[in-house]
Amino acid sequence: MRRATITQYLIEQQRKHGNVPPELRLLIEVIARAVKRIGHSVTQGALADMLGSAGTENVQGEAQKKLDVVANEVLVEANLWGGQLAAMVSEELERPFIIPSEYPRGKYLLLMDPLDGSSNIDVNVSIGTIFSVLPCPEGREPDEQAFLQPGRNQVAAGFAVYGPSTMLVLTVGHGTAAFTLDRDLGTFFLTREPIEVPADTAEFAINVSNMRNWEPPVKRYIDECLAGKTGPREKDFNMRWVASMVADVYRILSRGGIFMYPRDAKHKEGRLRLMYEANPMALIVEQCGGAATNGRTRILDVQPTALHQRIGVVLGSKNEVERVTAYHR
Ligand code: F6P
Repeated sequence: MRRATITQYLIEQQRKHGNVPPELRLLIEVIARAVKRIGHSVTQGALADMLGSAGTENVQGEAQKKLDVVANEVLVEANLWGGQLAAMVSEELERPFIIPSEYPRGKYLLLMDPLDGSSNIDVNVSIGTIFSVLPCPEGREPDEQAFLQPGRNQVAAGFAVYGPSTMLVLTVGHGTAAFTLDRDLGTFFLTREPIEVPADTAEFAINVSNMRNWEPPVKRYIDECLAGKTGPREKDFNMRWVASMVADVYRILSRGGIFMYPRDAKHKEGRLRLMYEANPMALIVEQCGGAATNGRTRILDVQPTALHQRIGVVLGSKNEVERVTAYHR
């Protein structure tokens, strides 16, 4: 069977929906190339001295791993010259990186978490890269304010998983597609489309070590899952927590489930970043028929107030997300 490449998929999307102008296609191709390079470094691991700490801290005061730094450099460098971007922001950059005026400037804003799941780098568990693309408001400098748009404005979002296979999951607003890297050819090929998240599930993902800090609606939901067949849900639930959002979300795209990193007494705003973790994942999951809220409202409707702001995340199978959200009302 002949499988489509990312380029062929995007050209087909443009033909059907008119949603992928050449500039956006080129931007996504540049990101896909950078992802291949990062994936290669991840695979090399200790052989390329990629494991361990970089001895520095990022903007949120978190210790950076060598791979956090390398992944950020690869993505920034790959996008500098492309001509499609006006500016970019990453978990590792405090302020927007505005494309210098001597370089060609485009009309998109790129937001990224270059290396998601940092705590799993050194233990050989799946990690990834998450990205989101926003339009740059016309006629203005691509400063911090230009980035503060709700997630529903995203024109593309995606994430890579560096696992047993390197995968790239992508949406340009009409469904979600998954590509697998053929390492011999160095090409991503379409391996799943459409992706549909079942509305119901019996599998949840949450870091239970935070239980004592949870708000009552979250505690109630998980207690009911744990009560299984003998509880109000009258069915047994399974639990999975990879601690790499990319891997947990990919599992949900594969067989359904609910993923939660709610705000709690310790993580008062939430733990995950709105602009380059929650928003892209919310768009991807919604494009698969799932739902994503912060426990109260739809993530894609949240008006950001800061580049690196955090948010509670509840996403996955629609009926379960709606249940948790209803418990908060
Ligand atoms: O970037 C945040 C992240 O690494 C996510 O990928 C993951 O879901 C979460 O943190 C894991 O958090 P914890 O360390 O609390 O399990």
